[in-house]
Amino acid sequence: MQLLTERNIAILAVGAFGIFSVGVFCTTVLPRFVDRELMDPKPNMRPYTEQEARGRKVYLAEGCVYCHTQQIRHLKSDQKRYGWRLVDAPPSKGWEYAYDNPHFIGTKRTGPDLGRVGGKYSSEWHWSHFKNPRDLGEKFRNLPESKMQQASIMPSYAYLSDEQIKDLTAYIQTLGRNVNWRKDKDGQLLNDYEE
Ligand code: HEC
Repeated sequence: MQLLTERNIAILAVGAFGIFSVGVFCTTVLPRFVDRELMDPKPNMRPYTEQEARGRKVYLAEGCVYCHTQQIRHLKSDQKRYGWRLVDAPPSKGWEYAYDNPHFIGTKRTGPDLGRVGGKYSSEWHWSHFKNPRDLGEKFRNLPESKMQQASIMPSYAYLSDEQIKDLTAYIQTLGRNVNWRKDKDGQLLNDYEE
């Protein structure tokens, strides 16, 4: 015996759309009503400065999001991997993206997650890294000297103007810093970093 939906394609289509809509509703509309704090900016958050906003545009234009995510997931491995000096990185929260439009949460991790990278390195480090990523970062220890510098597969952004690199760095330094999570060796919270 054929089911009614097998005989009538219109019922199947409406039914499928109905079920799809429930999924969309539950993931996009409902969360805001369950807990407003999920999305609204916290009082200690500030919108991006002009320089940081310009840096975001560079991030967008250069397609950094194709290789980097900006989300620390609720996985021990994520929290350890993106932590700082043995302090685990706290998982990302919805409200941290309140001023991100569009957001760069991303899906592909060719490079490391950048969700909590702000303040981890000095701005000078970023300067050298954007100019030539192969000068910094991990080196393959068991390769001959001539190959040692080839460890990073991140492209060089030396073609950006100095101003653009500075803007981009200003933006990168904001990432994940709305949550004060880094502690010094005495357990004191630390939110300063080398400019
Ligand atoms: C082809 C993929 C790719 C693209 C595109 C790319 N990156 Fe990377 N990125 C990587 C890889 C791989 C690493 C790890 C090796 C290294 O540090 O260079 C990395 C490392 C980084 C780090 C250091 C992260 C850490 O925790 O050590 C930062 C910051 C960074 N990238 C920012 C950017 C920005 C900003 C852009 C866009 C202008 C960008 N990346 C584009 C692949 C990429």
